[in-house]
Amino acid sequence: MEMIKGNKVVLVGDGAVGSSYAFAMVAQGIADELVIIDLAEEKVKGDVLDLNHGAPYGDSPVNVKAGRYSDCSDADLVVITAGAAQKPGETRLDLVEKNTKIFKSIVSEIMDSGFDGIFLIASNPVDVLTYVTHKVSGLPKERVIGSGTILDTARFKYELAQEFGVSPSSVEGSIIGEHGDSELAVWSQTRIAGQPLYNMLKDDPSKQHRIDEIFVNTRDAAYDIIKAKGATYYGIAMGLLHITKAILKNQNVVLTVSSYLEGEYGQDDVYMGVPTLVNRNGAVKIFETPLNDEEIKLFEHSSKVLKEMQNKITDIIA
Ligand SMILES: NC(=O)c1ccc[n+]([C@@H]2O[C@H](COP(=O)([O-])OP(=O)(O)OC[C@H]3O[C@@H](n4cnc5c(N)ncnc54)[C@H](O)[C@@H]3O)[C@@H](O)[C@H]2O)c1
Repeated sequence: MEMIKGNKVVLVGDGAVGSSYAFAMVAQGIADELVIIDLAEEKVKGDVLDLNHGAPYGDSPVNVKAGRYSDCSDADLVVITAGAAQKPGETRLDLVEKNTKIFKSIVSEIMDSGFDGIFLIASNPVDVLTYVTHKVSGLPKERVIGSGTILDTARFKYELAQEFGVSPSSVEGSIIGEHGDSELAVWSQTRIAGQPLYNMLKDDPSKQHRIDEIFVNTRDAAYDIIKAKGATYYGIAMGLLHITKAILKNQNVVLTVSSYLEGEYGQDDVYMGVPTLVNRNGAVKIFETPLNDEEIKLFEHSSKVLKEMQNKITDIIA
């Protein structure tokens, strides 16, 4: 049967994050074809069989295959979750040199196939590795997207929703900046069921302490989960699925993905998590959320942290 063009996804990296994403893709029937690549070929072989056996009960059929980089030639989307994972006590930025070398080789092989689609990157440090992918691939910035603070924003909404007893969909708020220790919450724009959080805090100042805790829980969630079970994967897999749907289904939804800044927020030549319109053409438009003075300072600091990392890997990608 000839495959209908337009919905082929290649996943590079079949570890905890990659296989959770693949499972979510099959359960929701998001692509016509899902090709999986990993150095661990036996693991891929097993996952391909297992996922295809689940596919008859998915929302619509997905053909899952083991593949190689030549399969990227006609792919619409390549999702990269390959690389070394964050170890207990290790920051995401510790991983930078190790994963930059891995990415340089993976992205070069993908481009050699003739790939001309969209990249979605999740491996850490995600903002820097998205920058590496943009530079190594030479693809337009719109077509190189990092998962950015998509997961952090979900964690933030979950925590606030729990605190105020509403659904996360009734919380308006976002985490922006680095996916990592220097990220920040845009408190000045946060609303619960339409009410500005700052007004709610004026009415009940005793809540301030909980609000501070919510940010710390959000920022440090990965450390807590890694300590408890070694890795985090379901949350990011759902985040990647959400971005994949925004792209393949041309949803025009605004998500806090990692986008390439060229003057927006006063920053240049850096990928950071910022509200971005995502559709079939990729990350097409960055929205500049109004920030207060403190938030501006924190965002500038986050950019500085990422640029210092970028400076450490410029020789590797040259
Ligand atoms: N962006 C986020 O919010 C977020 C959240 C969780 C994890 N992560 C990151 O995702 C990445 C994957 O995490 P994980 O828990 O799945 O790790 P994992 O160790 O379970 O899986 C990594 C996979 O990459 C494969 N791999 C390594 N080098 C490769 C290469 N050169 N070519 C092809 N495959 C290769 C390994 O064989 C392994 O299967 C890590 O960098 C982790 O830090 C990101």
